[in-house]
Amino acid sequence: MFSYVERSNIRLVMSKVIYPGSFDPVTLGHIDIIKRASNVFDEVIVCILNNLSKKSSLFSIDVRANMLKESVKDLSNVTIDSYDGLLVDYAAQNNVNILIRGVREEADFSSEFKMAQGNRSVAPFLETLFIPTDPEFSFVSSSMAKEFASFGADISAFVPDHVAELMLEKLYNNK
Ligand code: PNS
Repeated sequence: MFSYVERSNIRLVMSKVIYPGSFDPVTLGHIDIIKRASNVFDEVIVCILNNLSKKSSLFSIDVRANMLKESVKDLSNVTIDSYDGLLVDYAAQNNVNILIRGVREEADFSSEFKMAQGNRSVAPFLETLFIPTDPEFSFVSSSMAKEFASFGADISAFVPDHVAELMLEKLYNNK
């Protein structure tokens, strides 16, 4: 039977994209999306932004950025940045017109669809492209990782080891 599996490393040169998120903390699902985007686009800027609907954060922006840098250190076309403001302004300032968002399931799609349309209504130059999450990570979220970690559960299916260590330090030693 014909299979496309061995073609998964073919890189289609397209452009510079932003992968925005709150990354509090970065998960294995985020890292999978970053790797796949870095395989398709020339340059991927991972930008940490504030999600105003999330009331409190576990990690500072600097710590989140360091966790991301460690997670993508082998990907030469990925950079980590942060911005305190609107995503559309960050995109305009950096001359980027493509956003990437990972979509896990239907509920994600509905909210992501609205966010894409909202951003585009304010900034018509901006296109959002969705990457479907790998089934291995379809249940993975930062908030679930934090909840499991706060009760001492194994979170190795959610985050890389270096992130799990920092979460445990933060949650149990209040560092
Ligand atoms: O990882 P998240 O929390 O789903 O990411 C959401 C995020 C940070 C990309 C979104 O809340 C955002 O773009 N925040 C910056 C402020 C902004 O532009 N708001 C308008 C679009 S919701």
